[in-house]
Amino acid sequence: MADFADELKASIRESWALGNYAEIARVILPASQALVDACAISAGQEVLDVAAGNGNLALLAAREGAAVVASDLTPEQVELGRARTAEEGYDVEWQVADVEELPFEDGRFDCCASVFGAMFAPRPEVAAAEMFRVVRAGGTVGLAAWTPEGFQGKVFALGNKYSPMPEGAPRGTMWGEEEVVRDRLGGLASSVQFERHSIHEEWESADAFFEFSRNAGPTIARSKTLSHEDRAQMKDEVLAVIEEFNQATGGAIAIDNEYLITVARKRG
Ligand SMILES: C[S@@+](CC[C@H](N)C(=O)[O-])C[C@H]1O[C@@H](n2cnc3c(N)ncnc32)[C@H](O)[C@@H]1O
Repeated sequence: MADFADELKASIRESWALGNYAEIARVILPASQALVDACAISAGQEVLDVAAGNGNLALLAAREGAAVVASDLTPEQVELGRARTAEEGYDVEWQVADVEELPFEDGRFDCCASVFGAMFAPRPEVAAAEMFRVVRAGGTVGLAAWTPEGFQGKVFALGNKYSPMPEGAPRGTMWGEEEVVRDRLGGLASSVQFERHSIHEEWESADAFFEFSRNAGPTIARSKTLSHEDRAQMKDEVLAVIEEFNQATGGAIAIDNEYLITVARKRG
C-alpha cells in the first residue's frame, strides 16, 4: 500500500473522532435524501452506506424499508450512528470498515452508497473497485462529492494549502469532476449518470459560520497544527470565498453549496 494511504487514513480516523458530528450531519442531510432518490433506494433492497458518519443515508434508506448495513472508518462515528439508528427504532447493522477493504461478500448489496465519504479514500480506484465488488450485477453504486468549483470544494482547497495532504494523495473533490469519475468507473459500470445539486446553507453571520465549522473534527485537528498567523490568514481567505458565493446582505450568509451525484450501474 502506498505510504501516504496509511498515513492519511490514520489522520482521517483521528480527526473524525473529534468535534460534534451530529451538527454537520444535520446540515448535509439533504444530500443523503438526494442520493437515496437518485439511486431509487426502496423497500426490499439490501443497501450499504459506506463512510456513513452517524448514518444520514442509512437512516433514510431504512425509513424507505431497505435492509441497511452502515460502515465507517472511524469507530467513534460508528458508535454515534449505532446509537442514532437504534434510538430511531431501526435495525441497522453497523461495522467499522475502510471503503478500500470492505468486509462484505461479493455481490451482497443492491446498492452501495456514500455521501461525502468515499471521496476521502486515498486510493480512489481501490475504493471504487470495492464498492462495485460488494454490489450485485445490475446493482447501483451512488456517490455524492463536493465539486472543486463549489463553495465547499474551494474551502477544502484552502485547507489543503495550509495543511497539505501527503504527496501523491488525490484531492477528494476529483470525485466531483464528471470526466474523472467516468474514467475511474468506466471499466466497472455499464452506465454512469450525473446530477448536479446544491445544499442551501444559511448563517446569521460569518462568526456563526466559523463557529459551526468547529463542529467538524478535521477543522479542529487542522487548527491545532497551524500557527496563529496561518490560522488568521486562512480565515481571511475563507472569508473571501464566502464573499464570492454569498447571496445574502447585511452580514448574513446564504450559500448554495454545490456537489455532484454519481449513479453508476454495475456491469452484468
Ligand atoms: C463528511 S463525513 C460524511 C458522513 C456521512 N456519509 C454523512 O453524510 O453525514 C466523512 C466520513 O467519511 C469517513 N471516512 C473517511 N475515509 C474513510 C475510509 N477510507 N473508509 C470509510 N470511511 C471513511 C469518516 O470517518 C467520516 O465519518
